[in-house]
Amino acid sequence: MIVRKYVFAIFLFQLLLSCSSKEQTQSNISEVEALLAQMTLEEKIGQLNLLTPGGGVATGSVVSENVEAKIKAGQVGGLFGVAGPERVRKAQELAVAHSRLKIPLLIGSDVIHGYKTTYPIPLGVSCSWDMRLIEQAARMAATEATADGVMWNFSPMVDIARDPRWGRIAEGAGEDPYLGAAVAAAMVKGYQGDDLSASNTMLSCVKHLALYGASQAGRDYHTVDMSKLKMFNHYLPPYKAAVDAGVASAMTSFNDIDGVPASGNKWLLTELLRGRWGFDGFVTSDYTSVNEMTEHGLGDLQTVSALALKAGLDMDMVGEGFLTTLKESVEQGKITEEEITQACRRVLEAKYRSGLLDDPYHYSDGQRPKRDILTAENRALARKLATRSFVLLKNHNSILPLKRDAKIALIGPLADSRKNMLGTWAPTGNPDLAVTILEGFKNVAPNAEVNYAKGANVTDDEALAKKVNVFGPRIVIDKRSTESMLQEAVHLAKSSDVVVAVVGEATEMSGESASRTDISIPESQKKLIRALVATGKPVALILMSGRPLTIPEEMDLPVAILQVWHPGVEAGNAVADVVFGHYNPSGKLTATWPRNVGQIPIYYSIKHTGRPNPEGGYEKFKTNYLDVPNTPLLPFGYGLSYTSFRYSNLRLDKSEIGADESITITVTVENVGNLAGEEVVQLYLQDVVRSITPPKRQLKGFKKVMLEKGERKAVSLTIRPDDLKFYNSQLEFVAEPGEFVVYVGGNSDATLSGSFILN
Ligand code: BGC
Repeated sequence: MIVRKYVFAIFLFQLLLSCSSKEQTQSNISEVEALLAQMTLEEKIGQLNLLTPGGGVATGSVVSENVEAKIKAGQVGGLFGVAGPERVRKAQELAVAHSRLKIPLLIGSDVIHGYKTTYPIPLGVSCSWDMRLIEQAARMAATEATADGVMWNFSPMVDIARDPRWGRIAEGAGEDPYLGAAVAAAMVKGYQGDDLSASNTMLSCVKHLALYGASQAGRDYHTVDMSKLKMFNHYLPPYKAAVDAGVASAMTSFNDIDGVPASGNKWLLTELLRGRWGFDGFVTSDYTSVNEMTEHGLGDLQTVSALALKAGLDMDMVGEGFLTTLKESVEQGKITEEEITQACRRVLEAKYRSGLLDDPYHYSDGQRPKRDILTAENRALARKLATRSFVLLKNHNSILPLKRDAKIALIGPLADSRKNMLGTWAPTGNPDLAVTILEGFKNVAPNAEVNYAKGANVTDDEALAKKVNVFGPRIVIDKRSTESMLQEAVHLAKSSDVVVAVVGEATEMSGESASRTDISIPESQKKLIRALVATGKPVALILMSGRPLTIPEEMDLPVAILQVWHPGVEAGNAVADVVFGHYNPSGKLTATWPRNVGQIPIYYSIKHTGRPNPEGGYEKFKTNYLDVPNTPLLPFGYGLSYTSFRYSNLRLDKSEIGADESITITVTVENVGNLAGEEVVQLYLQDVVRSITPPKRQLKGFKKVMLEKGERKAVSLTIRPDDLKFYNSQLEFVAEPGEFVVYVGGNSDATLSGSFILN
């Protein structure tokens, strides 16, 4: 309040002086202009500086130094890696009580899948296809984070990823632009709510603009080279959806786009983001990504910092290139003060919008953490979301669900491993609070007899384990011999009714800087699986991973496979809920699972080629491989249930439509199994003939429905005029007249079809 009054008095004074020189770029927020009017060049540059004093996850080689002195000197606009009402209050005091203009700091954090109540990794969350639940989860994360003093979230990560070698596929919503856009919008709404200045909403930051998921060969931070057509039609829609949902900020990516790294790319940050999309927030770099343009070969720190500012970048994360070189660049005429003012204006506007200019301690209420963080309701929501994220890949002989009084051999290196439940990028969570699978089984099925054996190490490769263990022991290589561990497990299996093997990737085998070229289950665990199956006992695999895996061998075994990603703090309870049939799994894959890495990139919305391969066969001089079929192991949208659904009677409400008309497609879905269950009804569209080669089909609608045993429902999905549009070779968003075919079903291979004409 004090800050606001003070600022306002100065504003009136400044107004008299500056009326004549007003430019279009002025903010319509008077408090912001009042501040700008009294700021020195150095103070404006200070607002563009984003630092971390450590305490979060340092993802680069630098951690900021002398942070306190810099804040006092007005050289810092925001911090991340600082949390807790008291710590945040102290940080704000440094700015408010010591810096000349008393401008509060933005306090950021990576709240990627929950704050303290960690829910499943984003790739898992997307498999719920439940936008209401996703928004609710983001809302919960914002409530917890703001209770802890954090009001700016480096999320959602909406990078389309079609290469499961890339470890960060775990952090996004998978391969599809339509689904990705829906998830992006839901998350932004969840974080930001209706009123950004409320003390329980936070500024969202869409990242990583842009195309980060298309790094060559799935290697993190690698080059991206992509046509504009592919960008606009496949990779940009989720970022745009976040902008349309009102996202307050954006983060640039590490990669280059058309030869210029995103942090210095004027086409991206100014023409596209602000010009074409109308984004009115501020843009931050990623961790030292401005400095890294020097490594990319674009010049020294002064040059790349000037390039970034001119491109439209407003905040420089950790690298301090802005802080140390922009003044000199102004003096040398390389950039203008107005360009700095404009960037500063955007940062101040964000501070205004979040309520910080009104009250710097808006997010420092010491009572809130106890009230708002890790509450029973929050944990219940994390548990519910986790159950919705699981995908049943296979269920041989209906092994699942298990009887609640069975004698169970619970086996595997991830079955009793608290440190591996949260998944990657959960720096605000506490792995020690996670429920293990073993604990979950005991909680949910107290009448079952559950005995545990580790059976195998996640991997026997010590060098790999060392790399994965950077944030603590995720892979613990047992002192016992692999043979004795295996024998113990087999012995236990033989004396049990059923075997549940919890296998897959440890937490940090996916995520940032965790790319793999072999994405199969590590050999140590494959051996264990083979030995367990050889006992002849029914075997259910609970598969954990941060990415699609190549599991052709396991898919051929007579087992059940439940994919559970990394389920979060309620892991064990949620897994047990599904394993024992309290919840019937309904998740559907949001990224294609390849047969082997040679098929990558692989995704369902591929184009036709001029030489289509005959279905199921091989023909010389057709598009194919000598060694595997073209089809994936598991298609996008795939996922089984303990019941089954039959689709029939597809009808369209019109056979022809005009350019402004919508069309509604209705199908009958029937639960023909023995249990109630939820199904994600998916609609795919094929534009048969158009001016640029069309994909074979694209997702254009979905609905999640609940069906009791034996129940039938008519499910309607509407295609709106924009759903028929695409970016043509002039990058205009158009629909072209002609025939469209719709497919509706339970995955992207749906065959039930109909067609209509767009006039
Ligand atoms: C990541 C970002 C993250 C940032 C700050 C970077 O290494 O790429 O996604 O927001 O670190 O922690």
